Amino acid sequence: MNNNEQRRRMIILDPEAKSPRAQGFENGLKSRVIGQERALRSITSLYQVFQAGMTNTNRPIGTMLFLGPTGAGKTHVVEAAADMIFGDPNSVIKIDCAEFQHSHEIAKLIGSPPGYLGHRETSPLLSQENLDKYRTEANPFTFVLFDEIEKASDSLWQLLLGVLDKGRLTLGDNRQVDFSQTMIIMTSNLGAKEMSEMITGSIGFAPSKKSGMEESELDQKIYRTAMDAARRKFSPEFMNRIDKVVVFRSLKHEQLRQILDLELRAVQRRIDEGMGERFIFKATDATKEFLLNEGVDLRYGARHLKRAIERFVVNALANLAATRQVRLGDVVWIDLNEESGKLEFYRDEAEFSIAAATMDSIYEMRRSEEGARIAA
Ligand SMILES: Nc1ncnc2c1ncn2[C@@H]1O[C@H](COP(=O)(O)OP(=O)(O)OP(=O)(O)O)[C@@H](O)[C@H]1O
Ligand SMILES: [Mg+2]
Repeated sequence: MNNNEQRRRMIILDPEAKSPRAQGFENGLKSRVIGQERALRSITSLYQVFQAGMTNTNRPIGTMLFLGPTGAGKTHVVEAAADMIFGDPNSVIKIDCAEFQHSHEIAKLIGSPPGYLGHRETSPLLSQENLDKYRTEANPFTFVLFDEIEKASDSLWQLLLGVLDKGRLTLGDNRQVDFSQTMIIMTSNLGAKEMSEMITGSIGFAPSKKSGMEESELDQKIYRTAMDAARRKFSPEFMNRIDKVVVFRSLKHEQLRQILDLELRAVQRRIDEGMGERFIFKATDATKEFLLNEGVDLRYGARHLKRAIERFVVNALANLAATRQVRLGDVVWIDLNEESGKLEFYRDEAEFSIAAATMDSIYEMRRSEEGARIAA
């Protein structure tokens, strides 16, 4: 652009900008997934390319490979994305590669040829109808998740390469399935054992706040381990077909604490939306530390956190509600008894949650309105 006249008419554009929908998608993901920004950015940018209608018609919309430590959110990111777009975390076609090791198991994915035993018995998992099942007018595409691809058998591997390459799959009965409107995410925890050794070696078993190794140094080591293991295991043809490889980071104490808060809020939502008494519970900091200690072994990331919450919080609250020790509008405090090392539950006589009570009367009103409508 050497012409000054021409330059004056130019307006600077921003290729990094996000559409409101893509921005809304990314924000929603951030409220469901703690950390792992690179994964969130990658999936958002794929979504934006899709929205702009600039995807290639004879390939999937995009293909991503998620690597990294166990329990760090690889599967969770895909479920969170499906929840944001289709309103249900289960609206994903999910293939656990470890379950398809033998040829008769591959038939569950693609069906068997006509005349074979089992032909037409069940509809194959990767049929066009299944791919189309979750699509909506606003979002006519499907997430397809291949979990633990390092465990895929050779025949599954051939199938996968074909899908990545041509965006098509031929079923047992020769029908074609079109994968051009899918986002394919593959996960693998190749190198997970080495990674968990690095994580425990650097920080110790308890989710302590101190760390021996610099955190960025640990993440770099994890990155190298994951990439080396992937290059050793997967052929260059395969790696070349992937649009984006993302190595997840190990979750740090502060992030695990935020995940705990997310999970506790989810429990409160279950109470708010459930059929039983509506009350509010509050956990002290000591309670949260207790749950982190019980639910987190850094080798497994956040994997066991939900189980600890079920065991120590949900079961106890359910018992309290079932025995009517907790009633509508109550505020229940959960605290740690330092001496016994156990959680204790209190009801504050002076505290009453208007919010919980109001919520209940709204539900009550709706229920009686509905009853009246049905009766009329
Ligand atoms: N970054 C995160 N943000 C929010 N929740 C998380 C995160 N990471 C893990 N979790 C929680 O922990 C559970 C286990 O995580 P997830 O299944 O995604 O692990 P993964 O990385 O797929 O591990 P694996 O390699 O063993 O399959 C999730 O269901 C979610 O509740
Ligand atoms: Mg997983």
